[in-house]
Amino acid sequence: MIRTHALTKVFRTRDREVTALDDVSLHVPEGEIFGVLGRSGAGKSTLIRTVNLLERPTSGTVEVGGRELTALSARELRAERLRIGMIFQHFNLLSGRDVAGNIAVPLEIAGVGRAERTRKVAELLDLVGLGQHAKAYPAQLSGGQKQRVGIARALANDPRVLLCDEATSALDPETTRSILDLLRELRASLGLTILLITHEMDVVKSICDSAALMEAGRVVESGTVTDLLARPDSRLARDMFPLGLPAPSTGTTILDITFRGAETAHPFVSTLARTYNVDVNILGAAVETLAGRQVGRMRIALDGSFEDNVVPIGYLREQGLQVDVLDAYDSGFAPAALPAQLPDAVPTLVKEA
Ligand SMILES: Nc1ncnc2c1ncn2[C@@H]1O[C@H](COP(=O)(O)OP(=O)(O)O)[C@@H](O)[C@H]1O
Ligand SMILES: [Mg+2]
Repeated sequence: MIRTHALTKVFRTRDREVTALDDVSLHVPEGEIFGVLGRSGAGKSTLIRTVNLLERPTSGTVEVGGRELTALSARELRAERLRIGMIFQHFNLLSGRDVAGNIAVPLEIAGVGRAERTRKVAELLDLVGLGQHAKAYPAQLSGGQKQRVGIARALANDPRVLLCDEATSALDPETTRSILDLLRELRASLGLTILLITHEMDVVKSICDSAALMEAGRVVESGTVTDLLARPDSRLARDMFPLGLPAPSTGTTILDITFRGAETAHPFVSTLARTYNVDVNILGAAVETLAGRQVGRMRIALDGSFEDNVVPIGYLREQGLQVDVLDAYDSGFAPAALPAQLPDAVPTLVKEA
């Protein structure tokens, strides 16, 4: 639904040049919720503003719904933009207009007649759960209610795509959850495709199907959340499901086990202990329900060396689990020698078995 190809954006000011986007190629399939993560200054806002051409890319192309926006005339672009909704961190509401008046703005711009506007605004108010607040002014609303107005306004012209720039960053955790729930419902009921930008890992974890990590204008990692999880070197997965550093221990084999769906229900730990008569020591676990599937990681220790545990490890893999063998001692791993910046700097201690 959204496709960017080799997108580059260079900002030139009098004394310097900033490459805000550097060869960014992304694909967001129809109906997907796609999260872009990154620190401040990574280029996230520039990316999202380039998707609806609020910002013209220096080079590269943007395609939304099969149309190459970068190739359209100004008039054609205005029409296409109506089908792309956008919401913002600070809501951007008009303080002098009530809720209904704010939601009506894009309808007025699109030239929708008064009767149809009134009908549509009432429908949108219901959709975002603000039916009782049509006459309230922004100053009388909570942050969550303001963002609901922002969402209703973004949906006024029946967009197929919703762009969200840090839409929950100004909200408390509980309100964040209710807004994310609303976005998930809207995706289902309206068939929306959602591209969201955030610096909060929890947002990605709770609603995204796919994610990308941006750094200095580049996408350094991307994929479906469950696929990322299965990559032992994925920084997104490590930040989403942190297991920390393996505790140095002699005479044991440490395993990181990744669940990516139904396997989770399988009581593999007890089966392993019973069948192979081994002691299983659980060192850490981070398991959650993502997009309706249980996913996560667990770190366990088995007595004995890797060679002693080849058979139980083989059993775990036969269960469809991904098993990565961490071997702190063999890798000369010394926690005290690690740089302070964790977890990015943690070396990947994976032994191919
Ligand atoms: N209009 C602009 N003029 C000059 N530099 C800009 C402009 N917009 C963004 N930048 C620069 O581009 C980089 C990326 O910014 P931005 O996309 O806002 O990052 P993020 O949203 O990830 O915090 C930053 O270095 C920022 O200073
Ligand atoms: Mg930003």
